[in-house]
Amino acid sequence: MTKLLLIFLFACVASLSASASDGYTDFVYAGCSQPKCTPGSPYQFNVESLLASLANAAAYSSYANFTSTAAASSSPAYGLFQCRGDLPFSDCHSCVRSALSQLSSLCPSAAGAAIQFRGCFLRYGNDSFLGKADTSVLYKKCGPPVGGGYNSDMLGMRDAALADLTSDSARGSYRIGAAGYVQAVAQCVGDQSAKHCEDCLAAAVAELRAACGFAVAGDAYLGKCFARYWSNGVYTSKTDHDDEAGKTLAIIIGLIAGVALIIVLLSFLRKAGNYGKY
Ligand SMILES: *[C@@H]1O[C@H](CO)[C@@H](O)[C@H](O)[C@H]1NC(C)=O
Ligand SMILES: *[C@@H]1O[C@H](CO)[C@@H](O)[C@H](O)[C@H]1NC(C)=O
Repeated sequence: MTKLLLIFLFACVASLSASASDGYTDFVYAGCSQPKCTPGSPYQFNVESLLASLANAAAYSSYANFTSTAAASSSPAYGLFQCRGDLPFSDCHSCVRSALSQLSSLCPSAAGAAIQFRGCFLRYGNDSFLGKADTSVLYKKCGPPVGGGYNSDMLGMRDAALADLTSDSARGSYRIGAAGYVQAVAQCVGDQSAKHCEDCLAAAVAELRAACGFAVAGDAYLGKCFARYWSNGVYTSKTDHDDEAGKTLAIIIGLIAGVALIIVLLSFLRKAGNYGKY
């Protein structure tokens, strides 16, 4: 029986230094399996050929899956990447390439790993996770509470923007929503059926509603989908160097995220015994 123990340690460090900008190569989380590849094994060769296929496919596609049995069909390596629906192929390609290069330093020779950037997600392993549903919460963070007397407005707009994401299952896997000054975005990984996608987005939205209360922003990344919302002005662009308020907010969001992540990490480790039992 497979026990792929993913340990999400890196997210804590990275989110503390996170900026509020929404660059597509901004790091969200990464996890590595504890088992390592045996150097020189057929499985390791399969992984290498798989990762090369993923890197190549990202040049002309925003989602791809591969099962590599190049070296030995007895130890296949499974993998996929998914770019955010609004990224052009050129950005998708550079996102996937930098995700791969981060993975090789964060998870050297891990038998399985997953990494999430703002603009792309990549996962590989020796378990056949392709096409399977996975609504486990891998990362979540909430921004600071809304100030002033805007709480009830904010809550209504937030809930409307999130409802917009799940309102119409015919909309495909990448969705944007908005209400008032709140915007939202969500996406499923391309291996999910319409039904799995719907279930995953519903779980992500429920997570944001439950966890982020009156927060000005929230992120929930699940095994096979994510949903995020923010009120206008929370995320400043990279060129917006004069916006001191934006920077302060970024630091606050980073600190809150750090605390939230330790909690997520603890609860994740408690559940880790169940992870990977497909
Ligand atoms: C995956 O690799 C781990 C560690 O090497 C092993 O224990 C497990 O049996 C493998 N699972 C499959 C499905 O091959
Ligand atoms: C994997 O990719 C193949 C073709 O590249 C596609 O036909 C298949 O539907 C994909 N499987 C999943 C689970 O996405």
